[in-house]
Amino acid sequence: MYYKITSLFIFFFLSSQYNSYSQNHNKNKSNQDKIIQAKVDSLIKIMTLEEKVGQMNQYNGFYDVTGPSPNEGNSKIKYDQLRSGLVGSMLNVRGVKEVRAVQKIVIEESRLGIPLIIGFDVIHGYKTISPIPLAEAASWDLKAIKKSAGVAAEEAAAAGINWTFAPMVDISRDARWGRVMEGAGEDPYLASRIAEARVTGFQGEDLSSVQTIAACAKHFAAYGFSESGKEYNTVDIGTSTLYNIVLPPFKAAADAGVKTFMNGFNELNGIPATGNSFLQREILKKRWGFDGFVVSDWASIGEMTSWGYTENLKAAAKKAVLAGSDMDMESNAYITHLLQLVKNNEVDEAILDDAVSRILKVKYELGLFDDPYKYCDEKRELTTIGSVKNKEAVLDMARKSIVLLKNENQILPLRKNGQKIALIGALANDKNSPLGSWRTAADDNSAISVLEGMQKYSGNTLSFAKGADLVIGETAFIHELNINSTDKTGFKEAIDLAKQTDVVIMVLGEHGYQSGEGRSRTSLDLPGVQQELLEEVFKVNKNIVLVLNNGRPLSITWADEHIPAIVEAWHLGTETGNAIAQVLYGDYNPSGKLPVSFPRNIGQVPIYYNYKSTGRPLAYEDKKMVFWSHYSDVENTPLYPFGYGLSYTSFKYNSLETDKKVYGTNEKVNISVTLKNTGEVTGKEVIQLYIQDLFASITRPVKELKAFKMIELKPGESKKVNFVLDKESLGFYNNEGEYMIEPGKFKIFVGGSSYTSLESNFELK
Ligand code: BGC
Repeated sequence: MYYKITSLFIFFFLSSQYNSYSQNHNKNKSNQDKIIQAKVDSLIKIMTLEEKVGQMNQYNGFYDVTGPSPNEGNSKIKYDQLRSGLVGSMLNVRGVKEVRAVQKIVIEESRLGIPLIIGFDVIHGYKTISPIPLAEAASWDLKAIKKSAGVAAEEAAAAGINWTFAPMVDISRDARWGRVMEGAGEDPYLASRIAEARVTGFQGEDLSSVQTIAACAKHFAAYGFSESGKEYNTVDIGTSTLYNIVLPPFKAAADAGVKTFMNGFNELNGIPATGNSFLQREILKKRWGFDGFVVSDWASIGEMTSWGYTENLKAAAKKAVLAGSDMDMESNAYITHLLQLVKNNEVDEAILDDAVSRILKVKYELGLFDDPYKYCDEKRELTTIGSVKNKEAVLDMARKSIVLLKNENQILPLRKNGQKIALIGALANDKNSPLGSWRTAADDNSAISVLEGMQKYSGNTLSFAKGADLVIGETAFIHELNINSTDKTGFKEAIDLAKQTDVVIMVLGEHGYQSGEGRSRTSLDLPGVQQELLEEVFKVNKNIVLVLNNGRPLSITWADEHIPAIVEAWHLGTETGNAIAQVLYGDYNPSGKLPVSFPRNIGQVPIYYNYKSTGRPLAYEDKKMVFWSHYSDVENTPLYPFGYGLSYTSFKYNSLETDKKVYGTNEKVNISVTLKNTGEVTGKEVIQLYIQDLFASITRPVKELKAFKMIELKPGESKKVNFVLDKESLGFYNNEGEYMIEPGKFKIFVGGSSYTSLESNFELK
């Protein structure tokens, strides 16, 4: 019946198309927008109130849609609602067969046949799994990140999906929060660039292509600031942090054309995000002019009652819709109460029209009205998903995500021949953990383990000992199974093996299911008996390379003091073992830089490089005194700072210069610096540029990242690199959310981490 709807517009469509042939691309685009808007408006005119509510209703996949239709219970209700046009979207239905079956119900049986938009958490890959988003952020390689999102989109689209609930662009400074693995770290500038890369990677140039899907910036907003890092907790932050730290990556996603936003489980300063009109209506839809739609988080409309914000589901539905939440994910709030709320004049029908218009617009842009089965091609599904090309792309992403944290005595890269190597740790032989906690459609145990990756280098003798299990079982949902094992009976075998080998590679850290949603921790130490295992092995062999697998910063102070080489390898997805082996053997020279600060211990959390000076800062030099901003038992600095990461070569920064010393507030500041590869091998370096606005009407951080560039240099080669800062970079948001540029003195810092090596200054007049 979608053909019916389409035919309503044929005349209008053809004449508009004829006119637009000779016009330029941008004009075409806005013409296209107008055409779509006209179609949306006409469709809304013929929709009943019930059908409008239906478009705002999203259900989880609820039964095997390819089987016989259910006759009872919740599933029957949902099935009947699909047939009556009372469902606008489904999530967690995947695979061409399933998607086609569910789409067929609405297309063939509902009155208007409005296609469903099919959503899924394609967070870091569909079946071919990329590194977790935090790891990808460590690459600082925007092209690679965009490509990785493109691969995920291509595979998801081939499986019938046309909308991902990604990217998560929540900034977080608290490694206790399990979802730090899903974001791009602590910095708003880096996270904004990555947000753009991911949005454009998922959505591509043309949303109607069968290789792209709609993206979703989530969780709007401030979910990453959950108090004490505890999942789903209160968020209470000031306006300066909101405007300058939390919102910029969302704004970047909106500016990059993201089609949807998701709100969050958190409250912000007393108002749940889902019922937060200031966030959704004022900031997002009014100030930023966002014209896509907002989906609630899973059951977050209903949860406003648990928050004590709404008395019951009906009140929650009212608050949410008035606040600008356009689609209800699995709260059953809209489908149960919206109709009545409109009939009682508690909610204006125009609010529904606006929400429905936004939803339909995205469906049109995806091309679902032209062909609701366009993502349902069995052949494409077979050839696209898990292709060699996609595996190569995620391998490349995985290598780029690895960060070399320490490398003393040039223990790395490993020699390729004649060595005895021991591989120790349960994670070394794990094919499941590397897939992370958002493994979506990946097959269990489908990752290349570190052991398998290392075995491909046959010149050395490689032996493996587990040492100890990490967790007692493992599962995505049951907490108890991800509890650490305390069994040390395997220690002896590992220690004996270590005694007989030249080099020991210890793969330790967190299981893939120990970070992610619902996995907050109160310790950042190596979980379980792994620290003990590390120390015991160290007693018999000091030549250790520690390879970390984890979804959040860990506090590894002991390891940093004792272990000669440390490699941060996160959860790297399908190609984990190959990527790690290539880095350990020097076939890939590591270039990753930390997107988050690593604390010395958990007491330092939240810790981040862009902190405020305080009235009694570090510069308060006489440290014998007690009255300055510090701890008595540990220094203020992190173990590894934001932006930090080593290479197998070394770099030297020189000649930091600005073209002038004094600029008008509208002028561009041109900066140059020279970088030289002073080591023995070709390597890549991420040159980072930070500023400090020394005095402002609102205090500014001691450092703010404002630009970065990745440069590859051969041994001995040097290059002059230019940066331009303009008013987009030199201002800040005041407490009313207005962007300001104030005259005054600035410092510039350039180097290979937030502990920069060169410094200069300029003034804005
Ligand atoms: C998460 C979202 C996710 C949704 C759907 C929620 O629990 O917070 O990020 O997109 O579930 O799976």
